[in-house]
Amino acid sequence: MRIGVLKEIKTKENRVAMTPGGVEQIISCGNDVMVENAAGIKAGAKIVHSNKEIYQNCKMIMKVKEPLPIEYPLMQKGQIVFTYFHFAASAELTQAVIDSKCIAIAYETVERDNGSLPLLTPMSEIAGKMSIQEGAKYLENTFGGKGILLGGVPGVDPGTVVIIGGGIVGTNAAKMACGLGAKVYLLDTDLDRLRYLSDVMPQNCFTLMSSPATIRRLIKEADLVVGAVLIHSSKKPIWLSARSLFTAQKRPD
Ligand SMILES: NC(=O)c1ccc[n+]([C@@H]2O[C@H](COP(=O)([O-])OP(=O)(O)OC[C@H]3O[C@@H](n4cnc5c(N)ncnc54)[C@H](O)[C@@H]3O)[C@@H](O)[C@H]2O)c1
Repeated sequence: MRIGVLKEIKTKENRVAMTPGGVEQIISCGNDVMVENAAGIKAGAKIVHSNKEIYQNCKMIMKVKEPLPIEYPLMQKGQIVFTYFHFAASAELTQAVIDSKCIAIAYETVERDNGSLPLLTPMSEIAGKMSIQEGAKYLENTFGGKGILLGGVPGVDPGTVVIIGGGIVGTNAAKMACGLGAKVYLLDTDLDRLRYLSDVMPQNCFTLMSSPATIRRLIKEADLVVGAVLIHSSKKPIWLSARSLFTAQKRPD
């Protein structure tokens, strides 16, 4: 099979769908790999200079982010397009993919027998860890925050972090926040998951059953809120308006 690796054109998206090691491995299995020049990998792949060439010549396209409108007419009937699609977030993209008659495989929906999502998991681990790193940064005065140190200092309370969803993102966020010494509330609707988390998480992590009432109560004391809910094949629910977050602040200016 000829497999094409595209350079991402979405703003600020720098990831590439295949590593040089992956190219080598795929070629060693008897496939051809075509890589768009700017994607920055070679490892025996044929280098081409436009995404059009890849869409026209490859049976399978590998990308990272969903195709953008400029790419919709390029997708071919019967071609496998393997990328993060997030169809639930865009009716326009979904319709374009249906119209193209390509075979779309969304990374985020590839599921093991046990229901786990092996291609979403690494992104979730990164997102969870980053959420606390970024949140801590924006609590600093320099970045417009109130100058709150999540870990506190002797004589001053630690910050409070509320994490809604105790899956991969939520657990990784909680580990980071607990490691910094924050007071962490980790919410989920799955009681078995909460039981497991309360066994394995440190003492500064408090597990709670998630409900709109609990969330409303906790955001009043939260310095940082992380949304980490996944409801399969659905958009994320919105429980907190930006206004409610601004008006619920506990700390005086
Ligand atoms: N921004 C990014 O780069 C990035 C990367 C990966 C994942 N995500 C997003 O993060 C979210 C979480 O992903 P994940 O991999 O941790 O999913 P996951 O399936 O591992 O965890 C989701 C958790 O949400 C819980 N949940 C469902 N309904 C809930 C509710 N009403 N209240 C509280 N918890 C509830 C589930 O029980 C589950 O434990 C998803 O929306 C995903 O799309 C974002």
